[in-house]
Amino acid sequence: MKHIPTTLLVTGAAGFIGSNFVHYWLSQYPGESIVALDALTYAGNRANLTSVENNPAFTFVHGDIIDTPLITQLLKDEQINTIVHFAAESHVDRSIHGPDAFLKTNIEGTHSLLKAAKTIWLDTGVKKHRFHHVSTDEVYGTLSPDEPAFTEQHQYLPNSPYAASKASSDHIVRSYHHTYGLNTTISNCSNNYGSYQFPEKLIPLIIANILDGKALPIYGDGKQIRDWLYVDDHNRGIDLIIRKGRVDNTYNIGGDNEWTNIDIVKRTCGLLDDRFEASEKMAARFPKAPQNSGKKAESLITYVDDRLGHDRRYAINASKISTELGYEPLESFETGIRKTIDWYLANEEWWRRIMDGSYREWILQNYCD
Ligand code: NAD
Ligand code: TYD
Repeated sequence: MKHIPTTLLVTGAAGFIGSNFVHYWLSQYPGESIVALDALTYAGNRANLTSVENNPAFTFVHGDIIDTPLITQLLKDEQINTIVHFAAESHVDRSIHGPDAFLKTNIEGTHSLLKAAKTIWLDTGVKKHRFHHVSTDEVYGTLSPDEPAFTEQHQYLPNSPYAASKASSDHIVRSYHHTYGLNTTISNCSNNYGSYQFPEKLIPLIIANILDGKALPIYGDGKQIRDWLYVDDHNRGIDLIIRKGRVDNTYNIGGDNEWTNIDIVKRTCGLLDDRFEASEKMAARFPKAPQNSGKKAESLITYVDDRLGHDRRYAINASKISTELGYEPLESFETGIRKTIDWYLANEEWWRRIMDGSYREWILQNYCD
C-alpha cells in the first residue's frame, strides 16, 4: 500500500493510547513528523514519551486543545495536514463525580480543534487534509446479553457523562464535514489495555494492586461485559483509517474479545500467581503481594458498590473496518495481557510514582525544561 507522507498533530499524545500511537507511528513511518500536543492533565505523563524525545521527527508542545489560537498557529507553522485527536477526559468514574471537565475538554476542546482546522485547511484551500477523531463504543450505550454487537448504524444512547460528551463530540465532528466540507473520519473503539495505561483503569489497577497486596475492587456483581483490545491493535486500525478510510465515515474497532469483569480480574490474578511461582525474585520485589503468604491473588477480590448508571455490556462488530480496510487484530487476549503484565513488571517506577502521587514532581525534574 502506497503511503502518502503526513505531518501529524497528535492531541493527547502523553496519555495512554496517544503515547502508544506516537511510538507506533514513528517506528512504522520513520522520518514523518509528529507534533505532540498535550495539556499534561493528571492523566498526561511526559515520561510516556521519553524514548522519542530525541527523535528529530518529534516535537512536544505543552498546550490545551481549547486554545484555538495556539492550534491555529501550530497547524500553520508546522504545515500539519493530519490531526489525530485523542485528547480527552477519559475515565467514566471521574465523569460521574465531576462532569464539567468532560464537557469542557471533550466537547468544547474538540470544537476548538475543528475551528482551527477549518481556518487553516478550508479557508486557505489545503485540499489534502484529514481530521481523525478517536472515539469510543460507549457512545452506543449498553447491550443486553443476547443483543448483536454494535455496528456503525447503532443508535447513539450514551449513559455516562463521559459517553455523552464523546457522543456530542462525534456529532460536532460529523457536522464539520457536512456543513463545511472538512475531511473527517471517526473511530469508535472498545476498551483498550496495554503499556502506559493510567492505573485508575481496570487492568493496570488490578496488576498494581496485586503486586502491592491491596484490595481488587469489583463493582456490583462483576458480571458486566467489556470487549478488550490491545492498544497497538487500536492504533493499527487508526492508521488504516487515516490512510485508506473514506472521508465522512465512522469505523468501529474491536477485538471480538468479550469478558466479564470478574473473569478478566481472575485471569490477571492467575497470570500473576504464575509469575510468583516461576521466579523467586518476585517475592523479594513485591513483599506485600499475597503470594508471599501462601495466598492466591484472587484472595484480594473485594466486591464494592456498583458504579452509578453502570453499562452492562459493550461489544463491537468490526466487520466494516475488516472488510473495507483489511483490519485484523494481531494480538490475542493471551498474548496481549502477557505483554501488558511484562510491561508493568518492567516499569515499576512508572506506576509506583503515579500510585504514590510523586509523579508530577518526577516528571518536572526529569522530563520538562
Ligand atoms: P488518557 O486519559 O490516558 O489520556 C488523555 C490525554 O489527553 C492525557 O495525556 C491528557 O493530559 C490529555 N488531555 C486531556 N485534556 C486535554 C486538553 N484539554 N488539551 C490537551 N490535552 C489534554 O486517555 P486514553 O485512554 O489514552 O484515551 C485517548 C482517547 O481514546 C480518548 O479520546 C478516549 O475517549 C478514546 N478511547 C479510549 C479507550 C480506552 O479504553 N482507554 C477506548 C476507546 C476510545
Ligand atoms: P474501566 O477500566 O474504568 O473502563 P470503562 O468504564 O471505560 O469500561 O472499567 C472497566 C470495567 O471494570 C467497567 O465495567 C467498570 C469495572 N471496574 C471495576 O469493577 N472495578 C474497578 O476498580 C474499575 C476501575 C473498573
